[in-house]
Amino acid sequence: MRIVVTGGSGDLGGRVVRQIEARGHEAVPASRRTGVDLATGVGLDAVLAGADAVIHSASSQTRPQDVDVAGARRIGESLRRLGSGAHVVSISIVGSDRVPYPYYRAKVDSERALEDAALPATVLRATQFHSLAAFLATAGRVGPLAFSVGDMRIQPVDIDWVAQRLTDYATGPAPSGYRRARDIAGPAAYSAVQLAAILAAHDGRRPPRVVRIPPLLPVLRGFAEGGILPGPDAETGGRSFKDWLDDQPTPMPRRFHSPT
Ligand SMILES: NC(=O)c1ccc[n+]([C@@H]2O[C@H](COP(=O)([O-])OP(=O)(O)OC[C@H]3O[C@@H](n4cnc5c(N)ncnc54)[C@H](OP(=O)(O)O)[C@@H]3O)[C@@H](O)[C@H]2O)c1
Repeated sequence: MRIVVTGGSGDLGGRVVRQIEARGHEAVPASRRTGVDLATGVGLDAVLAGADAVIHSASSQTRPQDVDVAGARRIGESLRRLGSGAHVVSISIVGSDRVPYPYYRAKVDSERALEDAALPATVLRATQFHSLAAFLATAGRVGPLAFSVGDMRIQPVDIDWVAQRLTDYATGPAPSGYRRARDIAGPAAYSAVQLAAILAAHDGRRPPRVVRIPPLLPVLRGFAEGGILPGPDAETGGRSFKDWLDDQPTPMPRRFHSPT
């Protein structure tokens, strides 16, 4: 199969490209560095011509309406122009419709753009990647203290497993129209205290004292009240946070994306 991967140079997209190739298919990374700009549509028709499937993992934290949302709409329009029946598989975030955070709103808008396109499409929502959980825990540490938004818990997931599941959907049978796949999450949920303790053990330090910040703003309340936790029907799997951390550098750097 020929599978186009938007954001194929990114943290998730790069792993998707490697998954596709490992399974003997052709992966075509599509992003600005390969001449495809989802914010304008430049290069899109050319890269999508002849595609059997598209995995949409391009994203912009600063321009999500242009890249995630308009990008999804442009992919649909381009496939229609080309008369292509390619299956579009897109990544979204668990609970994006429950927390009023602008980036999350864009993820929901991006899902809707695919639903409106009325093409074979699968949206897979995942929880936060382990690297984001580690980043939140390390960035929220000040000297001997760390902070928790209320009693917020997080159930992070292994990015490599997310890449595998996206590839499973893209190489598997396509639906006749739009569908939401089962949400996916890692095997365990953690409080801020537990994350801080696991990271401290990894780094060989004393765990910080965790101070609870009252979730006064609606967005913080959304996080604190379990808005991003998976429901009981979610599929769970991949490496646990602790097993993933064992493969990371010591001390764990403060980075948004996975160092390895
Ligand atoms: N991080 C998490 O915890 C998490 C959890 C669940 C779901 N997700 C979702 O996973 C996806 C991938 O996240 P990530 O952290 O792997 O992203 P990332 O590493 O920041 O990669 C973003 C990709 O988007 C491309 N891109 C940006 N602007 C573009 C444009 N105008 N046109 C075309 N491509 C563009 C970038 O390539 P160029 O710079 O070459 O354009 C890059 O390849 C996102 O949709 C995110 O919402 C993330």
